[in-house]
Amino acid sequence: MDQKPDNFTFVLFGAESDLSSRKLLPSLFQLARWKQLPDSYRVIGVARSEIDDNAFRSYASKSIQEHVPGAVTDSRGLEVFCKNLHYVRADLTEVEGYAVLREEIDKVVAEESSCSNLLFYLATPPGLASHIIDNLEKTGLGGKNVTCKGWRKIVVEKPYGTDLESARKLNAIVGRVFHEEQIYRIDHYLGKEPVQNILVFRFSNGMFEPLWNRQYIDNISITIAEDFGIRTRGAYYERSGLIRDIIQNHGLQLLAAIAMEPPVDLSAEAVRDEKEKVFRSLRPLTKENIRDHAVIGQYEGYRGEQDVADDSTVETFAAIRWFIDNWRWKGVPFSMKAGKNLAERVTEIVITFKCPPQNFFGPPESCSYTANQIIIQIQPEETIAIRFGTKRPGKELVTDPVFMKFDYKTSFENEKMTPYQRLLLDAMAGDQMYFIRQDAVESSWSVIDSIRESLKDVVPEPYPVHSWGPELK
Ligand code: BG6
Repeated sequence: MDQKPDNFTFVLFGAESDLSSRKLLPSLFQLARWKQLPDSYRVIGVARSEIDDNAFRSYASKSIQEHVPGAVTDSRGLEVFCKNLHYVRADLTEVEGYAVLREEIDKVVAEESSCSNLLFYLATPPGLASHIIDNLEKTGLGGKNVTCKGWRKIVVEKPYGTDLESARKLNAIVGRVFHEEQIYRIDHYLGKEPVQNILVFRFSNGMFEPLWNRQYIDNISITIAEDFGIRTRGAYYERSGLIRDIIQNHGLQLLAAIAMEPPVDLSAEAVRDEKEKVFRSLRPLTKENIRDHAVIGQYEGYRGEQDVADDSTVETFAAIRWFIDNWRWKGVPFSMKAGKNLAERVTEIVITFKCPPQNFFGPPESCSYTANQIIIQIQPEETIAIRFGTKRPGKELVTDPVFMKFDYKTSFENEKMTPYQRLLLDAMAGDQMYFIRQDAVESSWSVIDSIRESLKDVVPEPYPVHSWGPELK
């Protein structure tokens, strides 16, 4: 980034949340260290605790030292950063605290006609969003009708609703006070470098896109596997389940990036238009066909986790075979698998090409042994591998699969930003490309709602911890 964002105030609602302490405050500190923040910025933490600026600074400093490598030894940098931190105590459901927040913000406003650029970050439980937005409106801090100069932006964390109806409600609430161009719905997967690279890989290379369709591609699989369980998030998981926690957002965003049409240009709107069309083209899964296209599972021992019911039927695994009913993809299965406590932690997209029309080098069924694949690994490695068949050395004409591999780690030396750092910078700069637009939130929920409805009477299959979960037949 050569251009720094405008001077601004970052208002962090939920300043003491896990997200603030693990991701947001450490990310802001790193950005400050890398001189990516403007010359003048302030972070105002807002939360319920009866603490003052100094106590908030100590809290932030501790979190940063815990989560940023090298921060412990950079005491000077930490001190400078912490001077920009302030704290306002507020019950977020009551308007009074917002008046105090307003006073704090106004402290630095020189003239009456101007006001600070404000970025509101909602690192709060979903139920608080409507209160915060109402109160921002009441106190004249937020939104469309602010008369003084200076921009307003709001970043809203996932879960963005729990179904279509609640997502629509939330959209209506946020949309009453902020224009769509001011709203940043965050999905941290869109901040991952290899995920951002999908667009570049597909559309900056002439050799892949001509093959990227039903004529040449046999199937695509998307895996988001974790080798740990729900940890201490039992209460959340019992309400959410894996489909809403991971597939509705991260899974469908990966699918959209792989399947979208080329955008007319690289504007956020053009890219997001194409992604939204993918969601609208997903074939609905119904009660009649769900068992052929989806399987859900629950890891053994889940019911014994903290805050989980003894007879819970919440899924911690899902495999779904999607079909995208459009010109490019008709008939190509997209198999998506995501789960907790699986055999490995890996997020990966595998594009498998059709076999050559004639298999000279073995019986027809042997083709899959060397089938061409593009394997995009998002984590733990950040790689793209191309698999192809090659002649095994020796007298006989036998083929073996081999790989050509690109690895971010060995090809680039730049200090790597984390997804939150990238997305925070984008939000500051006003780039919405990697944030979810209202229509996409709603169309993705609509698909997920119909799957969940069709799965209502399906009990998740138990699977052993560190296995690959139940098979999708
Ligand atoms: C979160 C989910 O959105 O993403 C978690 O709530 C999941 O359940 C996490 O573990 C995965 O993120 P990452 O970046 O570690 O793959």
